Amino acid sequence: MATVDQRWSALPVPYAIELPDRVRKERYFDPDFYRLECELLWPRVWQMACRLEEIPKPHDFVEYEFLDQSIVVLRTDDMGVKAFQNACRHRGVKIVQGRGTCESGFVCPFHGWCYGSDGQNSFVPRRRTFAEHNLYADDLNLVPVRCEVWGGCAWINLDDDAPPLRACLEPAASILDAWKVESLRTEWWYACRLPVNWKLAVEAFVESYHVVEAHPQLVIPTRYGLREGASFDPRAFIDADIQYLRAMSEGMAGMVHANDVRVAESLRSMELPDDPKAAIATWNRTLNDAVTSWHRERGADMPDLNELDAQGLNLEFYQCFPHYFVLPMYSSASSYRFRPLAPEETLMEIWSLTRFPAGDEPPEPTPPETWECDDPRWPPIPTQDFSNLPRQQKGLHAKGFEYMRLSEGMEGHISNLQRTVDGFLAGLPHDELLPALHEVNVYPFDKPIADLGF
Ligand code: FES
Ligand SMILES: [Fe+2]
Repeated sequence: MATVDQRWSALPVPYAIELPDRVRKERYFDPDFYRLECELLWPRVWQMACRLEEIPKPHDFVEYEFLDQSIVVLRTDDMGVKAFQNACRHRGVKIVQGRGTCESGFVCPFHGWCYGSDGQNSFVPRRRTFAEHNLYADDLNLVPVRCEVWGGCAWINLDDDAPPLRACLEPAASILDAWKVESLRTEWWYACRLPVNWKLAVEAFVESYHVVEAHPQLVIPTRYGLREGASFDPRAFIDADIQYLRAMSEGMAGMVHANDVRVAESLRSMELPDDPKAAIATWNRTLNDAVTSWHRERGADMPDLNELDAQGLNLEFYQCFPHYFVLPMYSSASSYRFRPLAPEETLMEIWSLTRFPAGDEPPEPTPPETWECDDPRWPPIPTQDFSNLPRQQKGLHAKGFEYMRLSEGMEGHISNLQRTVDGFLAGLPHDELLPALHEVNVYPFDKPIADLGF
C-alpha cells in the first residue's frame, strides 16, 4: 500500500485534517467546531427536506427543521414544490407546526396576518396602525427558500449561490436515476436519537471494515469471496446466498425486500454449472432477471438489474453529501438522513423503500416517533451499529486518545468526507467545493483517499 504523504496541506480550520488518514477527536465534540459547521456547512448545502409522498396533494405542507432553522415545504397547485422560511413577517411566530394542508393559505396564530399558499402576504389586520415603512409589499411576504426536487424528495438550500441541486448530487443522482429511485415508496420510517456527533453517526455506515466484527451474521462466503482452492458445491452455494439475502432482509427489516427473498427461494432448485465462477455468474444473472420480471409483471416501475450490473451500477450504497443516503438492493432500498441536534447528539432517520404497482401505492407515511438507540424495537443490523456508537463517542474523550487512524485502503471515504467538511468550514467557493462533492457522492466502501483539489 502506498504510504499517505503530505500532498494535501491543511486548510485554515481548527482541528483541520492535516494528514489525510488521521482525524482529530475534537472534530466530534468541540463546541466551536460544531458552531463553525452550523454557520458554514449546513446553511450552504442541499438538504433532503421531505419525501414527496409526504405532500401528495396541492397545498400539503411539512415543516423541515435543522439546527435553529424551520422551513415550510409546500406542494403547489401545479404539483411543484415551494419552500419558505417558517416565520411570520410581523413578529416572527412560526406560521406552521409539523404538517398538514392549508386550504387557502396560512394564518399566523398570533395576530392573524395572512399569507397565500404562494407565500404572499394577503392580509394585515388593522393595517392603518402600521407606519408606511413597515408595510412595503416585498417585506411582508414569507421569505422564499431555494427548493428543488430529485429522487422522490424535496430538497432545500439556504445559500442562493450554491450550484443547482443536481450538480451537487452527482454522480449519485445519475446512478440512482438508473435505479429509478423516484418510484420507490415508504414501507416504514423510523427515527433514532443517537448520543453522538453527526459525523460519527454517518461514518458508522460508510465503511465495510466493521462488518466482520459487528455484523457476523452477514459474513457469508458467497458475498465475501470464496476461499482459493475450496471445493465448490452449487447447492450449498445457493443455500448460503439465500441465507445471506434473508439475513439482510430480516436484519434491516427489508433492505433486501421479503418479496425478493421469495423470488430467490423459488430459484433454489435451479441447476448451476460446477465451475464456481460460472455458477455465481449464472445465479446472479438469473436472480436479477427473476426479480426484475416479478416486479414488472405486477406493474411496478422496476429497473433492469442486469443492465445495472452491466453498467457497473449495481452497488448498494450512495451518499448525497452531507446527510442523505440511498442503499438500493434488488427491487428496494434503505435510506438514511442525519441531522445534528447538538455537538454530541444526532437524529438519524431510516426509511425502508420499495416498489408498488402503479395506482396501488401506499398512503402518505406517518412520521415516526423518535426511539432511543438501545430501543429493543430496532432490527438486528441497526442494533449492532447503534450499540457501538455511544461507546465510541465516550471513548473519543479519553485523555490519551488524540486522533482516529484510518485504513487508507478501507476507510478513505471518511477522510474524503472530513476534508470536504473542512472545505466548507474554510469558506471555499462553490466551484472549488463541487469536485469534492463529486468525490464523496459515490459508492463509499473501500474507497481510496482522494485528492479533492484543496
Ligand atoms: S407574529 Fe404573526 S401576526 Fe403577529
Ligand atoms: Fe453496520
